[in-house]
Amino acid sequence: MQTLWSQRYALCSQRMRSSAVRELLKLTEKPDVISFAGGLPAPEVFPLEAIENAVHRVMTNWGAQSLQYGMTEGIPRLREFIARNCARYGINVQPENVLITCGSQQALDLIGKIFLNPGDRILLEKPTYLGALQAWNAYQAEYVTVEMDDEGMRTDQMEAALRAGPKFIYVLPNFQNPSGVTMSMERRLRLIELAHHYGIPLIEDDPYGQLRYEGENLPPLVELDSQARCNSPYSGNVIYLSTFSKTLAPGLRLGWIIAPAEVIDRLVIAKQGTDLHTGTFVQMVAHEVAKSGFLDEHVTTIRTIYRERRDAMLQAMEDYFPPGVSWTKPQGGLFLWVTMPSEMDSLEVFKKAVEKKVAFVPGDAFFAAGDIRNSMRLNFSNADPGKIREGIRRLGLVLTECMEGEALTQVMSSATTR
Ligand SMILES: Cc1ncc(COP(=O)(O)O)c(C=O)c1O
Repeated sequence: MQTLWSQRYALCSQRMRSSAVRELLKLTEKPDVISFAGGLPAPEVFPLEAIENAVHRVMTNWGAQSLQYGMTEGIPRLREFIARNCARYGINVQPENVLITCGSQQALDLIGKIFLNPGDRILLEKPTYLGALQAWNAYQAEYVTVEMDDEGMRTDQMEAALRAGPKFIYVLPNFQNPSGVTMSMERRLRLIELAHHYGIPLIEDDPYGQLRYEGENLPPLVELDSQARCNSPYSGNVIYLSTFSKTLAPGLRLGWIIAPAEVIDRLVIAKQGTDLHTGTFVQMVAHEVAKSGFLDEHVTTIRTIYRERRDAMLQAMEDYFPPGVSWTKPQGGLFLWVTMPSEMDSLEVFKKAVEKKVAFVPGDAFFAAGDIRNSMRLNFSNADPGKIREGIRRLGLVLTECMEGEALTQVMSSATTR
């Protein structure tokens, strides 16, 4: 129906879609539904006491200043803290390379705002983070995609995509959302090499890098790029994004961008038009919590709890999922990725799953072309091991039913065509 408003929306807003995850979350909010749908950290790991003490210290030490407008770049001591932290990984980052954002989601939007003209191409993994698609659809981006396997983006298939002249490459090397896959060292090096060769910048989105439950830490692309260049301060080919959402609490809405200073300057102007700056108070609170080294200890606790949940999910899948269904075994992060036989439709499975009071995100939301329908993303951080086991048991029943139904339909249709 046309309304006074509907005739006035800008063309670019017509490509904006509400995130599938948010819409589905509404269906799964009932308390008796076991939801593996959202990407929610476990609320029981939020460090309430540390944050409460930090709030108190901020009010006592900084009072009115903590409630005042601040610099768009972010408060200097938080930018310095992040720059120093990068030095731990051998990346020469100065505060001028750091912009504090309202979460990494805002970083994705600001990147779209400064780089994308309508029709510009972005090279992405297939599947990819749907929040990035949501951010960049608004700027009328087009996508070129590259398949993934269990070592991450297929760099051997990238050259054709690179020749399509993308503005940048967007990649999630650690425990990718949605697949849970980690890019191998060999692929990281090859990706840096290809990006240099074709002169295409990389956007590295790394919200989960600290949440590793097994295996060796691998260097972020920004580190590999900075080593290749030996420049100081960082002025390379990578824009790196991270966030306090998964290590501290997502409600703080606090993330950061590491980029060459000239890019930060542009992003700052873009951010001024968006929200002037990220909240001074939350930045001060996060800095108070982080500066004492508390975050390192806290992340160790989170890792232990999430590792247990990941293991509970993997074991339950072994026990309850029918043959023909496969899944990734993530070394960290919050998600794993399930692939069903090719004729299955995850939306149909989702509807039946909600009836059995278990939920997930149908996988097509994570494909730029929405063309793959037989996969699903499961989150393992937000339910305890007992609930995970029960949820996976229910999902196993749904999958078995759907697969039997599908097999029956195929037998019937081949009988009628004979
Ligand atoms: C890959 C990825 N990028 C960005 C974000 C947004 O994070 P934030 O809460 O910092 O906005 C998320 C959130 O789940 C994510 O998974």
